[in-house]
Amino acid sequence: MIDILNSIKSDSISKINELDSLHELDQLKSFLLGKKSPLMDVLKDIPKIPLEKRPVIGKEANQLKQELTKRLNKKRDELINKERDDFLNQNQADVTLPTSGFPSGSYHPITIVTRYVCSILNRYGYAIKQGPNIETDFNNFEALNIGPNHPARDMHDTFYLKNKTVLRTHTSPVQIRTMLEQEPPIKIIAPGKVYRCDADTSHSPVFHQVEGLCVDKHITFSDLKGTLEAFLHELFGDEHAIRFRSSYFPFTEPSVEVDVSYTINGKTTWLEIMGAGMVQRNVFRQVSYDPDSYTGFAFGLGIERIAMILYKIDNIRLFYENDHRFLTQF
Ligand code: PHE
Repeated sequence: MIDILNSIKSDSISKINELDSLHELDQLKSFLLGKKSPLMDVLKDIPKIPLEKRPVIGKEANQLKQELTKRLNKKRDELINKERDDFLNQNQADVTLPTSGFPSGSYHPITIVTRYVCSILNRYGYAIKQGPNIETDFNNFEALNIGPNHPARDMHDTFYLKNKTVLRTHTSPVQIRTMLEQEPPIKIIAPGKVYRCDADTSHSPVFHQVEGLCVDKHITFSDLKGTLEAFLHELFGDEHAIRFRSSYFPFTEPSVEVDVSYTINGKTTWLEIMGAGMVQRNVFRQVSYDPDSYTGFAFGLGIERIAMILYKIDNIRLFYENDHRFLTQF
């Protein structure tokens, strides 16, 4: 009997050691310890052996059963670990493989149009100037011939800040900053953000302008018209008609507004894109230029309006919503 148990033991241990999968382990477990296993046969036969030998054989058989159970459990743990490691190894990310490509960023349409406008005017000899978004009341209004009680202040829907400062309502204060800093001749453009307390499909509380200023001796209204016509022709091509409409600004005289025709959803309309005019004599006095020696013209154009025409966009808010589907088209 002991011999049989010993051979069951060595046979079982080698089978357990050879196990390769949890599935095989389950099968082997019922083969080794199940009702029809060789070990169970031994236990069933115990009543047939002489009484005095029964305890020894019984003890041996039970110890063997315990040992095999322990070895099977240990093997089960090993196999579970191995299966997990195999899975992780097979499914590991291969960091050496090439990627499918990263989406790359692009410029915002406002940036694209601002740069385009500036690149054309740069070529005409205009240098780029910048000014702060928080301006003094003097630079934004007074020096531009808009006194404290001037009705034009209402038109500007100003955000007033502390200490006689405002969020600049236009880029025209950069004209004043430049003229206070240097003597003519002056040819500058000033791109930047401006702020007005106003919002609908064609107005936003923050928008973008490019200011232009040209001051020298003998600058005439023809220079203004010629410059703007050449510039707008380059910007829009032949597709869009341009018209000059007489207008009023406190800081220019005479003044004009420039409209561009554009067709959207089958309808053609005029869209106002800039104001312009000859620099008012009072403005020159404010910056200590002699209005009898110098003349000049100024213009201020709206970048959003130009972008709406160039890209056929009918709602200004699209520029600020940062909807990825909109922005990736540029
Ligand atoms: N600053 C004016 C505006 O924002 C535009 C303008 C600029 C008009 C320069 C004339 C000359 O409406």
